[in-house]
Amino acid sequence: MTLEEKLGQLTQFVPDQPESRPALEKGLVGSMLGAIGAEQTNQLQRSALAGSRLKIPLLFGYDVIHGYRTIFPIPLGIAASWDPQLAELSARVAAREARAAGIRWTFAPMVDIARDARWGRIAEGAGEDPLLGSAMAAGYVRGFQENGFLACAKHYAAYGAAESGRDYNTVEMSERTLREIYLPPFRSAVDAGVATLMSAFESVNGIPATANHHLLDDILRREWKFKGFVVSDWDAVAELINHGLAGSKEEAARKAITAGVDMDMWDNSYSRLAGEVRAGRLPESVIDRAVRRVLRVKVQAGLFDDPYTPETAPPPLERDAARRVAQRSIVLLKNENSLLPLPKSGRRIAVVGPLADSKVDMLGPWSGKGMAEDSVTPLEGIRSIVGEPVAVEQADVIVAILGENREMSGEAASRASIELPADQQKLLESLVATAKPVILVVMSGRPLAISWAAEHVPAIVEAWFLGSESGHALADILFGDINPSGKLPVTFPRATGQVPIYYNYLPTGRPADAKHKYTSKYLDVPVGPLFPFGFGLSYTKFDYSNLTINGLTMSATVRNIGSRDGEEIVQMYIRQPVASVSRPVKELKAFQRVALKAGESKRVEFTITKRDLQFWSDGAWIVEPGEFKVWIAPDSASGLEGKFEFTSK
Ligand code: NOJ
Repeated sequence: MTLEEKLGQLTQFVPDQPESRPALEKGLVGSMLGAIGAEQTNQLQRSALAGSRLKIPLLFGYDVIHGYRTIFPIPLGIAASWDPQLAELSARVAAREARAAGIRWTFAPMVDIARDARWGRIAEGAGEDPLLGSAMAAGYVRGFQENGFLACAKHYAAYGAAESGRDYNTVEMSERTLREIYLPPFRSAVDAGVATLMSAFESVNGIPATANHHLLDDILRREWKFKGFVVSDWDAVAELINHGLAGSKEEAARKAITAGVDMDMWDNSYSRLAGEVRAGRLPESVIDRAVRRVLRVKVQAGLFDDPYTPETAPPPLERDAARRVAQRSIVLLKNENSLLPLPKSGRRIAVVGPLADSKVDMLGPWSGKGMAEDSVTPLEGIRSIVGEPVAVEQADVIVAILGENREMSGEAASRASIELPADQQKLLESLVATAKPVILVVMSGRPLAISWAAEHVPAIVEAWFLGSESGHALADILFGDINPSGKLPVTFPRATGQVPIYYNYLPTGRPADAKHKYTSKYLDVPVGPLFPFGFGLSYTKFDYSNLTINGLTMSATVRNIGSRDGEEIVQMYIRQPVASVSRPVKELKAFQRVALKAGESKRVEFTITKRDLQFWSDGAWIVEPGEFKVWIAPDSASGLEGKFEFTSK
């Protein structure tokens, strides 16, 4: 390959970019972002192959985040199912639909841990926990990567830790926090065979992720043995100039590729590397290394055998799958006096709120080629069961569908206050003032600080953005055809001022104590979160008893003591109370979704390994023998507590 041909393989353009057409015709583009549809991708592929001396096909990438045409819940919602198989199912469907539209590569899953709900992109990930995040990451990779479709774990790394929750903002973090909290989902994606990673926009401890040797080379390539390629985020190579790391695009490109970013998204910086090589500022072997990685992945995707896409009618929407995933993503947060489920007749229902009938908002942020007209709204879902709703004055019960519109989360959608929008808060207060029972359905791309509602509204359902089947899935829950089983993948704060807030925090010397002033807390909000990580109610009740511990195997009896069948997500946490470094007050180590008929009980058993006890210390994973606490629990704030001694090194 000539140097220009090599650099072409490392360049990604969008179709309407002026430099894209001439480069394509000369065979000097490796990948296209945002070309969709069999017809368009085939046409571009024909030009590329005609221009390419070596007949190297283009790789078409697109943001297929939670569905392509059939839209599934946002990833934060799917994480609330705590079911990696549902993540896998959603990804498999998305990949099939995207592939039929000529797309071979998705910029998903986003596996960034997020502890600060001001950050709008919390919607795109699995929430705050590394273990849950790792399980979901592997599920997505498995689902996407069937049949040669390619996934991309992003944004490597620690993008979710943006200071003050402001998108693209800088990150300062200890190596321990990086390793223990932010990297595990990436590691899990790599172990699941993810073909590509995307480098993040932000700087990590002063070095932008897109030029970060430590992340891209020491850890990703050398420790984890990642063999695929890394693509930059949009314009992130050129933005090394804004970061103050490079004085020119040439220098930016040189730093990025040397650190290990193989493909340059959109900003056309890598074409400048020819000059750098010729001037002796960059060894050509660095370019060869990147080209090999890109070509290997193209082969893996079957692109050389099959570069085109049949121009046939798109597959039908997979509504059943979308509905099933949506049902399990919903979290019941409050249900005073068993207000829910609602009876299907004999009750006049009002359905109120800006999100009650907004088709487009059901899709949430990043909705691929999802069509608003295909989505079922809460109003439509409720109507399909009880007929036409009534107005508030005539109603026996009010369902208020409030929260964020879909523009309020996702990329570049950080919010400095995450309470309900003021007009909606007023609306809610006026509904509660009618003295009629109110059911609040919250749609949001992040946890909202809904303290007032938690105190004054008898029933609250967290519905995220549920996708194409939103209204049906919600009605299934509201009228009890499906018993809610989702649990929060993220802590809900009482007020914005509490964030970042998360369950696996480090202890302080002065643990919060409402009765003592000089302890770690706020003056103006009660201690602790509004709803803890792992929390979620059901229409039945589960009782936990009889914790036993045998070596590294723990078990407990979980019994359905209500009158309905249900599913419970049983969680296992540990804590090492004394070690050479301060350890988190709790760490999730395992979980299981258990189906229990009314009255039924099961022993739920977890076996962990020595690896689950380790932490990062001075450049290595170590285990320190000693006492460990253990909980088998319905959420991160309660449960059965026991302890064990770990002795061997
Ligand atoms: C920027 C986003 O950060 C990234 O997640 C996305 O994949 C690219 N744009 C391409 O759209």
